[in-house]
Amino acid sequence: MRKKITIVGAGNVGSTAAHWAASKSLGDVVLVDINEGIPQGKALDLLEASPVEGFDVNVIGTNNYEDTANSDIVVITAGSPRKPGMSRDDLLQINAKIVKSVTEQVVKYSPNAILLIVSNPLDAMVYVAAQTSGFPRERVIGMAGVLDSARFRTFLAQALECSVRDVNAFVLGGHGDTMVPLVRFSTMAGIPIENLLSKDTIDQIVDRTRKGGIEIVNYLKTGSAYYAPSAAVVEMVESILLDQKRILPCCVRLEGEYGQKGVFVGVPVKLGSKGMEKVIEIELQGQETSEFQASVDAVSELMEKVGGYIR
Ligand code: NAI
Ligand code: 2OP
Repeated sequence: MRKKITIVGAGNVGSTAAHWAASKSLGDVVLVDINEGIPQGKALDLLEASPVEGFDVNVIGTNNYEDTANSDIVVITAGSPRKPGMSRDDLLQINAKIVKSVTEQVVKYSPNAILLIVSNPLDAMVYVAAQTSGFPRERVIGMAGVLDSARFRTFLAQALECSVRDVNAFVLGGHGDTMVPLVRFSTMAGIPIENLLSKDTIDQIVDRTRKGGIEIVNYLKTGSAYYAPSAAVVEMVESILLDQKRILPCCVRLEGEYGQKGVFVGVPVKLGSKGMEKVIEIELQGQETSEFQASVDAVSELMEKVGGYIR
């Protein structure tokens, strides 16, 4: 039987994720939105691409959560995107209410699903979904690190004038200005980038990575990034549904790892059919430790604030 992927929010990220997921034939896709007609129209349009593209999955759009029943994975992109001048944190209150109500609906019909959260501010929204669903931490995962790391890798590949496929790098911490691009673990074909690029160049790339979201917002003006975010979502969906056990940076609740308990923050994890199957711990050093702690503190503050909105 084919897997079932529900995507809530048929906006830019949701519909583009549906596109990538369907074109890779990862499973049947159900696109949900509060806007009547939008998910139905986008889903039908995407389905009508299947004879051309040759994918054999069904795609439906709906405003009714009954259609999402027994999903294997539910991606939550519902919410407002960032507009120029807005921080991710400005979205906190609006999106907390949306993510809470969406989570209530999806878990009612898919009690065994894995939840993959995208709505911003990301780490706080993963906390909202976890609190609302009561699911174990293995089944409530946030997407941000894959996107932030993809941006980091793109900029490094440009500076190194090499294929992005040969650049390995990842970003830890919260999805915000305090994220921690890990230079020490970044390589081109296994060669540390510190041997290949000047400190100034690396510093500029780290700064650009941290501001990667706002760079796109400032160009688009009416919304935020969606091609790279939705590709990142689908890389995670694929690893889970195909039990690939990829090691990807994702937002999960830490239970003692990295010396943290109860906080939702980005760390490398193993993603397989059970969801988050293992937190991969690496020993942080010096500035990495203080930067990671600053990021954890920023997320904890948001979690405390958002707790007040969802009680
Ligand atoms: P969008 O505005 O294009 O789409 C959002 C969709 O959610 C809209 O179609 C809207 O009708 C729908 N929606 C609102 N309330 C809803 C509800 N209660 N139930 C169902 N649907 C509802 O926004 P976009 O660009 O798709 O972004 C979605 C979210 O993802 C935003 O919060 C954005 O900040 C976040 N985001 C997070 C990223 C990450 O790295 N974690 C990357 C990119 C975006
Ligand atoms: C981004 O980083 C908006 O959080 C989103 O593009």
